[in-house]
Amino acid sequence: MIGTVEVVEDASGLAERAAEIVARASFHALTHRDRFRIALAGGGTPRAAYERLAAEPRRSRVDWSRWDVFFGDERCVGPEDEASNDRMAREALLDRVPIPPGRIHRIRGEAGPDEAARLYEETLRAAFPRRTWPRLNLVLLGLGEDGHTASLFPGAPALAETDRWVVGTRSPKPPPHRVTLTLPVLERAHRIVFLVCGAGKAEALRRIRAGEDLPASRLRPVEGALLWLVDRAAWSDGG
Ligand code: 6PG
Repeated sequence: MIGTVEVVEDASGLAERAAEIVARASFHALTHRDRFRIALAGGGTPRAAYERLAAEPRRSRVDWSRWDVFFGDERCVGPEDEASNDRMAREALLDRVPIPPGRIHRIRGEAGPDEAARLYEETLRAAFPRRTWPRLNLVLLGLGEDGHTASLFPGAPALAETDRWVVGTRSPKPPPHRVTLTLPVLERAHRIVFLVCGAGKAEALRRIRAGEDLPASRLRPVEGALLWLVDRAAWSDGG
């Protein structure tokens, strides 16, 4: 299993630890850079961590004015749809902290997978000009029960993408059409943190620990650090 593993007691401990990791990553990045550029994870797990990040004392400690917020993936739904990752992040974090509006870069999933991917690649290339690949400071990722991460699902052609930064994909679980950052982008982040919580993820983690070729286990950090932040139920040695 690539990377380091930190096991926390439960969902609350994972949310607290994840919030602290993000806050400290921003402090570290902003000691020698003018901006902190993060890609948020979607799904349900990160919500509690985002809420803790937006609460005191972190709300006052973090220099939100120097953040650039991106998304690891998005569902092809409208921004007010309950399935929208952007909506979840806004409710839990982005509407609660003073990040300058122009510095939150949502994926316009409502445009459909291919057009949204094209637009988002333009957004990323504008944010990382003259780059062969963008180097985000921090990428947060979840893990699906089938071993997917972001919207890179098992068997997806997107897993073999080596040129584009953002692609449209299909998901076996609804919503079916998605947009996702590609592996080369995800694995070039300075820090990659998987947030894995609950017994439902134990089998996927067991398969990754056993060396199975799943989307999440394909990430090979390029000059960065990868951390699996997992709770005890997901890390259960029963697999
Ligand atoms: C998404 C996420 C996806 C998610 C996993 C885990 O858009 O759904 O990018 O990769 O992180 O499916 O989801 P939960 O945190 O809800 O278990």
